[in-house]
Amino acid sequence: MTRSDLPRLIGHRGAAGLAPENTMAAFRAAHAAGCRWVEFDCMLTRDGEIVVHHDDAIDRTTNGTGLMSDIDLAALKTLDAGAWFDPAFAGQRVPTLAEIVALLAELGMGANVEIKPVTGHETETGIAVARFLTASWPENLPPPVVSSFSLAALDAARREGPGLDIAILWEDVPGDWHDHHIRLKASAVHTDAARVSDASIAAFRDADIPFRCYTVNDPDRASALFAKGCQSVFTDFPDRLAQV
Ligand code: G3P
Ligand code: MG
Repeated sequence: MTRSDLPRLIGHRGAAGLAPENTMAAFRAAHAAGCRWVEFDCMLTRDGEIVVHHDDAIDRTTNGTGLMSDIDLAALKTLDAGAWFDPAFAGQRVPTLAEIVALLAELGMGANVEIKPVTGHETETGIAVARFLTASWPENLPPPVVSSFSLAALDAARREGPGLDIAILWEDVPGDWHDHHIRLKASAVHTDAARVSDASIAAFRDADIPFRCYTVNDPDRASALFAKGCQSVFTDFPDRLAQV
């Protein structure tokens, strides 16, 4: 599956520069800044609920402490996930995947759903996210792109969701990236804008595989990447890059 419907700008963690990352406020901010697509991170709580959150631990982005895999959803929902960013966002909560998907359906935004398992929970997280997306993705939205740095999570997602559009995330592109791409029946590569080499870009082009880059907050950097064939960039500041 080769996608031509993705926009050049994809809001990163909603729009992490404009509002507390991965909260409802961040997705509304991305929409207000003109984003048609957003990226966000998914992991499991102790009781197996899929929530939208980046770090293994909740310390940086909430007023709680500990691993996401050690807290139940009900307790997580009592925590504040906005005030750390700015007191104006006090009262934001860590959202569930279901809550975010409902908001995307309301706003008409597409999404790259990144599977971000707490370490040691790769397979169960891949299965849960793939099962949810296969059963519950809104018909009014374009099909999601599912990505992960975890090959174990992606293997599980592929088994659970044979029809899902999968992209592999690489911080550093390894020599055998294409073997993984074929095995996973992936459609694209997502990689670190600061580390991707011209040799890797040439290899993507030779293989006719689209690539997208995170995290790009500088308009000149975005322009340079687009000139090299990058399909989309993930940005914390879609407002800054709007003119690129
Ligand atoms: O999916 C692109 C990007 O979000 C990957 O890095 O750490 O921000 O999830 P990270
Ligand atoms: Mg991410």
